[in-house]
Amino acid sequence: MRTKTVDGWQRKDHFRLSVMKTMKNLRQARPGMIFGMILLTGLVLIHLHLHLRQDSSQASENTVSGYLPGTVRDDQIFQCDRSQWRTDICNLRGDVQLEICNGTKAFVLYANQAVETTQLVRKETTKPYSRKWEEDSMSSVNEVTLLRMPALSLAAQATRRPCDVRHKVPGIVFSTAGYTGNLYHEFNDGIIPLFITSQHLRREAVLIISSFHNWWYSKYREVIEQITKYEIIDLERDERVHCFPEIETGLHIHGELSIDANRMPLKEGIQEFRDMLNRAYKPGPEDEHKIRARLKNKINPRLTIIVRQGTRKLLNLDDVIHLAERIGFKVHLLTPDPTMELKKIFWLLNNTDVLLGVHGAAMTHFLFMRPGSVFIQIVPLGTDWAANEYFGEPVSKLGLKYMPYKIQPDESSLSDIYNATDPVLVDPDRITQRGWGDLKKIYLEAQDVRPSLHRLRQVLQQAKQDCRPLSHENNTSRKSRFMKH
Ligand SMILES: *[C@@H]1O[C@H](CO)[C@@H](O)[C@H](O)[C@H]1NC(C)=O
Ligand SMILES: *[C@@H]1O[C@H](CO)[C@@H](O)[C@H](O)[C@H]1NC(C)=O
Ligand SMILES: *[C@@H]1O[C@H](CO)[C@@H](O)[C@H](O)[C@H]1NC(C)=O
Ligand SMILES: *[C@@H]1O[C@H](CO)[C@@H](O)[C@H](O)[C@H]1NC(C)=O
Ligand SMILES: *[C@@H]1O[C@H](CO)[C@@H](O)[C@H](O)[C@H]1NC(C)=O
Repeated sequence: MRTKTVDGWQRKDHFRLSVMKTMKNLRQARPGMIFGMILLTGLVLIHLHLHLRQDSSQASENTVSGYLPGTVRDDQIFQCDRSQWRTDICNLRGDVQLEICNGTKAFVLYANQAVETTQLVRKETTKPYSRKWEEDSMSSVNEVTLLRMPALSLAAQATRRPCDVRHKVPGIVFSTAGYTGNLYHEFNDGIIPLFITSQHLRREAVLIISSFHNWWYSKYREVIEQITKYEIIDLERDERVHCFPEIETGLHIHGELSIDANRMPLKEGIQEFRDMLNRAYKPGPEDEHKIRARLKNKINPRLTIIVRQGTRKLLNLDDVIHLAERIGFKVHLLTPDPTMELKKIFWLLNNTDVLLGVHGAAMTHFLFMRPGSVFIQIVPLGTDWAANEYFGEPVSKLGLKYMPYKIQPDESSLSDIYNATDPVLVDPDRITQRGWGDLKKIYLEAQDVRPSLHRLRQVLQQAKQDCRPLSHENNTSRKSRFMKH
């Protein structure tokens, strides 16, 4: 089983995607859905070795009913739920062993002699990635094999390979292939589903990762340490025989960058997810000192502008900065850069009152904003639906105030190319309905924006009134007045 290299992911065209086919499926499922992916952000290429942490031999005390309860009952379970459209989930419970079986690495459930009646081997394969409907992303995801062995004869039992590592907590199996490498997808298809699947286990779970990348681990190390206190298992490369009381393959997912608290065993929502990030990125004493010093001098509310460098650039960035400063903001620029640590971005945005940027994957950083702050998304022509679905809705659920700034035809660089009456300018819906190819070629890859300073002034003034600057914060209630229920 070969794992694609980081370079492979970087080169991969996330837009090409065989999306036409995908989009057809999507449109059937959810009318109007025309975007698969948004934008590549940089990759963190620093390779670090895994830090070995505790061995997982302390048993979990926590039992919560729901999926993957974390304690073994007497019964054995071998089940696969393939009924959801985004993800397949399989569970094995009992005497489970990760080993090479007939040349294939597999999770093998050994029969309990007392319970087992069937003599048949059962085999299931599954891809543990939450974009099940999408051929292109799933094609890079390795299959995981699950086997159930019938009760063994005494002779066969004697030849069974002994466990090298015996875990007392459940294992969670997922893949970091697919669209890992794009920030939106890393959170949407990976980190948030992982939180949903594991949160109730309170770090008492072992992560077993297929297509494991060191750069991914380095990038998300602080977050992963909030999710598990055990060493990570690299599914394809780890040669030890691991034994588990229970495993689950595949991650649960509720929607775009969101968590449905009603479906969580302990009722956590996206705010609790952000609380987890806040714990993960807790600054050490030295950094805390620097952050405090910076906040001390703060009188004005802070505006952070996410600067895109490829497509969908803000052509009048300097004018926008001056405008914001005249209105009374302290302005910071955030240019997503693969070498920038997520915790530093978190610290910046945790102390930002208003975030402004043009629609694209980097807007996923809104997850780092404090509830009660304001998010201004500049929505280029032809991107209304995606801007709202991928960011507008999730932003409101986190308790930020969402202010879309919809680009008018004369504010789009496309007006330099097309006649004023061209449907590209006056009827983007008609063009985007033709399919992903045109949408991507025209609106995502060939468009920059030049928002009117007059219109933007009104939006920024409103944002300044609505945001709750940290220095004026007088109310420790975590829930914001923008919260949608
Ligand atoms: C392994 O291979 C042997 C011989 O081909 C076969 O009889 C047996 O059923 C296989 N076992 C499993 C678990 O697939
Ligand atoms: C984020 O800001 C809040 C409010 O000032 C603070 O309590 C918290 O510690 C900050 N989080 C981090 C990770 O710095
Ligand atoms: C539109 O552009 C074409 C050339 O691309 C030009 O011939 C035509 O006159 C233009 N129409 C209008 C109404 O400007
Ligand atoms: C804090 O809240 C109190 C009442 O709740 C109010 O009178 C006071 O002005 C507030 N202080 C600031 C700095 O907003
Ligand atoms: C703080 O905010 C909460 C919810 O937003 C509100 O119910 C409460 O009255 C506020 N308290 C003060 C002192 O302003």
